[in-house]
Amino acid sequence: MTPAFADSAAPSRCLHIVPADRLDSFLETLPEPARQWLRSTRFEGGLGDLRLLPAADGQVDSAVAGFGTPKTRRRTRFGLARAVAGLPGGTWHIDGPLGIAEKTEIALGWLLSQYRFDQYRPDAKRPETALLKCPEGCDPALLTAMAEGEYLTRDLINTPASDMGPAELEAAFLELADRFVADASVIGGDALLDRNFPLIHAVGRASPRYPRLLDMRWGERGPLVTLVGKGVCFDTGGLNIKPSSGMSLMKKDMGGAATVLGLALMVMRLNLPIRLRVLIPAVENVISGNAMKPKDIITSRKGLTVEVNDTDAEGRLVLADALAYACEEETELVISMATLTGAARVAVGPDIAPFYTDDPMAAAALETAAQAGFDPVWRMPLHDPYESVIEPGVADLDNAPGFGFAGSITAALFLRRFVDKPRYVHFDIYAHTPTDAPARPKGAVGQGARALLLGLPAMLGL
Ligand code: BES
Ligand code: MN
Ligand code: ZN
Repeated sequence: MTPAFADSAAPSRCLHIVPADRLDSFLETLPEPARQWLRSTRFEGGLGDLRLLPAADGQVDSAVAGFGTPKTRRRTRFGLARAVAGLPGGTWHIDGPLGIAEKTEIALGWLLSQYRFDQYRPDAKRPETALLKCPEGCDPALLTAMAEGEYLTRDLINTPASDMGPAELEAAFLELADRFVADASVIGGDALLDRNFPLIHAVGRASPRYPRLLDMRWGERGPLVTLVGKGVCFDTGGLNIKPSSGMSLMKKDMGGAATVLGLALMVMRLNLPIRLRVLIPAVENVISGNAMKPKDIITSRKGLTVEVNDTDAEGRLVLADALAYACEEETELVISMATLTGAARVAVGPDIAPFYTDDPMAAAALETAAQAGFDPVWRMPLHDPYESVIEPGVADLDNAPGFGFAGSITAALFLRRFVDKPRYVHFDIYAHTPTDAPARPKGAVGQGARALLLGLPAMLGL
């Protein structure tokens, strides 16, 4: 399923968008029966409230959707998308007193609201699709690229671990590389030891679905941007096994990988003038006789030794080797995305993507782009005084400090030890929506990708 706008020349029906404070003036533009219908069905212009208007022959002529107030819109991102599901199929255009940011939110929300994950219900009835003509002033290529990237991210995350192990993630990775004629290579199984990726191997070796490092390069011109995504296809916690409540969502522990792949799709589809590299350590964190154990000390690719104080803090281990590898060449910008800590959720909840960077310019660019892309992010502190917390004494680094506080920050500090480039941005995402929200159905969701996409030009001085 691919998100798309309707052909701009196709005949279309009108969806009137009506802010609550413009209801009266809107009603005056309507013929009396329509005005009466909206009054008698108590239409008040509430955000996402929909009324269909009939033609003389009883067909649907047009429709009216409330756009609420600035306050209700701030409370509900993509709130108008709620109306889209109630529209009959066919081609629609929107009309109303809207600025470009509002039209963009509506158009993007429209595309995102049509995402379905129904591969496992082949007989399920699918609602008719109401296609939107891209509103005037919006960029259809940009919006469809953002939606398609998000669809890919959601599909990868929603697919259960039974069908999305390291091999299947590799296949999806190679398929994307193929589509955009990118160079891709894979280092798998024992070759990870031969090629010196000890942490990736240690985390993934207990699974018969062997660990691998996926590597993609695309583009011939411009600055190099390296994306690193946590690809833990399932996280049982390892020998420090998670309780069932903590394990149940862990098919989404490759959410960082899925999100960097969605972002890569956007970049490549839009043909941005950058060179892109994507690195994904793809592993399963499971249990068998050869699983890594608490208190194991492993020498990482970079040479730093790591004491494994919790086998459930596996994400930072696999990312450490991938980040060190990324930094073995000149690169302008290194970005990691990972479902790294529960602590990030305690800090900002499921809806916000917290990020870390030492580069104030990158932070400012991301905050601006987050607004433009309806993709909320929040900068978190790389607080140097907490460095000592990740130093266990017996080794260089501790993957799971007993500190008990600031778990997302100490994880970010851990990752920073493996990056020697001035520009590094790390996202600690959730990649999941706990309850249905407009344009974001319960389940997988991409976080931070649109903010990064739109922030790249400012971050790179393009
Ligand atoms: N994948 C989890 C983090 C996670 C848990 C993300 C729940 C989103 C929701 C990660 O591998 C993990 O288990 N982290 C531990 C680290 C701890 C053992 C230091 C955590 O956050 O509890
Ligand atoms: Mn874990
Ligand atoms: Zn994990």
